[in-house]
Amino acid sequence: MTTSSASHLHSSIGAIVSVPSSFPNSISAATLLPREDSASGHQFVHQTVLLNEAVTALHPLKKDGIYIDGTFGRGGHSRLLLAQLAPEARLIAFDKDLQAIANAAQITDARFSIVHNSFAAMRTELMARGIHQVDGVLLDLGISSPQVDDATRGFSFRADGPLDMRMDTTRGMSAAEWLAIATEKNIEEVIRNYGEERFAFQIAKAITARRQVAPISSTRELAGLVANTLKKYRGPRQKRKDSNKDPATRTFQAIRIFINEELEDLKSGLSQAFDLLSSDGKLVVISFHSLEDRIVKQFMASKAVVEQPDRRMPIRSKDLPQPQMKLFRKLMPSEVEVAVNPRARSAIMRVAQRLPMSLDALQVLNAPS
Ligand SMILES: C[S@@+](CC[C@H](N)C(=O)[O-])C[C@H]1O[C@@H](n2cnc3c(N)ncnc32)[C@H](O)[C@@H]1O
Repeated sequence: MTTSSASHLHSSIGAIVSVPSSFPNSISAATLLPREDSASGHQFVHQTVLLNEAVTALHPLKKDGIYIDGTFGRGGHSRLLLAQLAPEARLIAFDKDLQAIANAAQITDARFSIVHNSFAAMRTELMARGIHQVDGVLLDLGISSPQVDDATRGFSFRADGPLDMRMDTTRGMSAAEWLAIATEKNIEEVIRNYGEERFAFQIAKAITARRQVAPISSTRELAGLVANTLKKYRGPRQKRKDSNKDPATRTFQAIRIFINEELEDLKSGLSQAFDLLSSDGKLVVISFHSLEDRIVKQFMASKAVVEQPDRRMPIRSKDLPQPQMKLFRKLMPSEVEVAVNPRARSAIMRVAQRLPMSLDALQVLNAPS
């Protein structure tokens, strides 16, 4: 995820949207930088991570397949996928963020539609459209560059802005609202569990002490408070270990994950994607930190590895439990991609494919209760 003011690329993006079928199967990330229309009038750009790799991982594409991009962002993956899908196929994208939804409105392809909701509402949203099965699901987790780089969104500890951090600004509590009412214990747990911050206790204490004087309403105030707290408590070893990281990194990550219910959505989205996938359908997930990746890895493993019954039990081999998914080797961005886009450095892509169910298992599922 890298930002640059790449306005010279805009014209090529328009072309991609209007004539998808004429595009090649492999496009470099730079040619797909989509335009950002921010409320503030600034231009922010999201550089898609593992663009060709993630779209290729969804292959082979079914002629009349239905595909889901659960995290539209600025549509890098969606646009490339549309360029490769057959005329009979469909792509349904989701995003929580209204600016992403506005960006998706630039796509005038009849095969494409966008839903303003979490991918954790995938089942309900698809059922409402009469869709009970899909052929591929892509989740490119976390936040987009425009969200981080637009200071008015309140995600960044580098630029000053209102302490919001919501992907979906139409619902839920902002970070400032939550910090004003949460208990010290709750703040500490969030910072420790979602930020893996050693000094969560001290930071939570500093936050509750400060809010007694005045509410913490800006990103700069929170970042300064965390930096001052860590200055007091971190020893030289800790400082050296974190020398290339802003002291507020872990705390901001933690609050953002909590406010947006990112891990709950991920668990629910994975399970719904699995239930909706047709035989041979692919699930492709790109994660950006270890908490997300652990959930993805464990989920996929739970569908790929089956517990075998006691060997002494008289069970015919065809009745033995079968794995429900096949796993592919995890993939990280190349050195070249990371050099061009340093925000890609922590990305891990995992891919799993739904295996066809045995006839016996299908009969059990369809048996009248
Ligand atoms: C890393 S960006 C995706 C970038 C996108 N693949 C592209 O190429 O432009 C993540 C996007 O997913 C959205 N998002 C994150 N979690 C979500 C969720 N649970 N449901 C829907 N959208 C989500 C964010 O608002 C953000 O726009």
